Amino acid sequence: MPFTSKKRKSTSTVGLANISISSNVAIGTFTLLLLIAQIINGQSNPPQTCPTANDISPCQCQVKKNGLDILCEATDVTHITHAMTVLKPKSPIIFYLKLRHNNLPKLQSFIFLALDIRHLTIHNSSLAVIEETALSSLGKGLTQLDVSQNQLQNVPSSTLKHLHHLLILNLNHNKIAVVHNQAFVGLDTLEILTLYENKISNIEPEAFRGLDKKLKRLNLGGNHLTTIPQKALGIFDNLKKLEIQENRIETIKEGDFEGLRNLDSLILAHNKLRTIPGRVFSHLRQLNSLELEGNLITSVDAEAFAGLEENLQYLRLGDNDLHMIPSESLKRLHRLRHLDLRSNNISYIPEDAFVGYGDSITFLNLQKNDIKSLPAMAFENLNSLETLSIQNNKLTRIPEEVMEPVIDTLRVVDIMDNPLICSCDLMWFPNLLKELKNRDDEMTQKKRPMCTMLNEHREYFVQSMPLERMNCIGKNLGRSAMSSSGGVVVTSTTLIILILSFLCACLS
Ligand SMILES: *[C@@H]1O[C@H](CO)[C@@H](O)[C@H](O)[C@H]1NC(C)=O
Ligand SMILES: *[C@@H]1O[C@H](CO)[C@@H](O)[C@H](O)[C@H]1NC(C)=O
Repeated sequence: MPFTSKKRKSTSTVGLANISISSNVAIGTFTLLLLIAQIINGQSNPPQTCPTANDISPCQCQVKKNGLDILCEATDVTHITHAMTVLKPKSPIIFYLKLRHNNLPKLQSFIFLALDIRHLTIHNSSLAVIEETALSSLGKGLTQLDVSQNQLQNVPSSTLKHLHHLLILNLNHNKIAVVHNQAFVGLDTLEILTLYENKISNIEPEAFRGLDKKLKRLNLGGNHLTTIPQKALGIFDNLKKLEIQENRIETIKEGDFEGLRNLDSLILAHNKLRTIPGRVFSHLRQLNSLELEGNLITSVDAEAFAGLEENLQYLRLGDNDLHMIPSESLKRLHRLRHLDLRSNNISYIPEDAFVGYGDSITFLNLQKNDIKSLPAMAFENLNSLETLSIQNNKLTRIPEEVMEPVIDTLRVVDIMDNPLICSCDLMWFPNLLKELKNRDDEMTQKKRPMCTMLNEHREYFVQSMPLERMNCIGKNLGRSAMSSSGGVVVTSTTLIILILSFLCACLS
């Protein structure tokens, strides 16, 4: 094994050194080398060998389980071409060929001829031109192609069309402005296509022709789209995940997502949407997760989520401009589990805010809103709630009667950064902490909300309000505060309460 990498060898040696410490050192070393050889070569593949380090310098070669792993960094086309020439005679399997941070503006014809490359990366290498026959010889073996962070102004369609086994194509961070018709023709096995952070403002109607049956994930994020390219996308029968975040989409309309009947996840975050019109997602019957955060949404049509009834579980509407919980539109979503409404401008929660859909919600985020008070029945329908975030609002009171409907299922509750007033009706909080302590100490340790004692003009941790001075003793002790050993600082007050509630529990 003359050319295994130094790094690999030395870490293995360190890792196994202890085993051989008491045995004969020479035998130990020998078995060690055998072990390394086995690990590196794998069981089934014929052994691969690297050229000598000098021959392919400045590129580096390592022998990996499934073939060679070759890395060329910060060099140029002459050195890379030379390294490829050295590799050719033994026709090894090159499992990874990684060319990064090079000066490689043009990928020449036949540069990889007679090489069997499985994963090819040409990253941050000023690549602007790929000659038509540069990749054609790789058609039988190449499964992943990453040409991210380069200068490509178009999808290099003519050279891609030979890659009949490609599964993943990464064109992120290039300069592509238009995706032309038939841009990916020939890539009939492709499952993942990512075009994140280009300059795409136009996707022609037949752009994705040929990818219709196999493509599972498409990332068009970080581009300049102003509308959903419906005609191009409508062919995707089996697409599961569509990312169009960080574009400039101002409006979406009914029909925009027609054809995507197996879509599971749609990410429209960080666009410029102001409204969500009725029935816009009605073709997405399988949709499980919808991300709309970071838009400018002020209104959600009552029919906005029509069609999503049976499958939608995750809905993210944070960082928008909603003034109320869009209950009318949400009430049909009887499978909803995760509702995120953080950083909006919601100031009021009506009693019927969660009627019809609250039953399945386990996660509710209302942090960074403008909520000043909670009506007694606010959380009445949240029968499965486990995580509640209402930090960073304007709440002065969170009475126990508000929490009563959810207190048995809650595992995490965050009430930090509210102008809370210390009062007996906040006692549910320390009581809940004691109950949760064994299950979730992240909350008990890190989140310590404060409240103000009005008559003393000072603040206390809600955990350690001076209950004896607040005349709370004897009130609100219905919930048991058993099992409170360890962890939290036990003040004299909490001790008294503990003893009292223990007595209550015994007597009842
Ligand atoms: C890209 O490569 C150049 C060398 O060609 C290097 O100076 C630069 O730091 C690299 N950029 C990134 C983001 O790695
Ligand atoms: C929030 O809504 C109030 C009116 O309810 C408005 O005065 C205020 O400007 C809004 N704030 C933001 C950040 O939109």
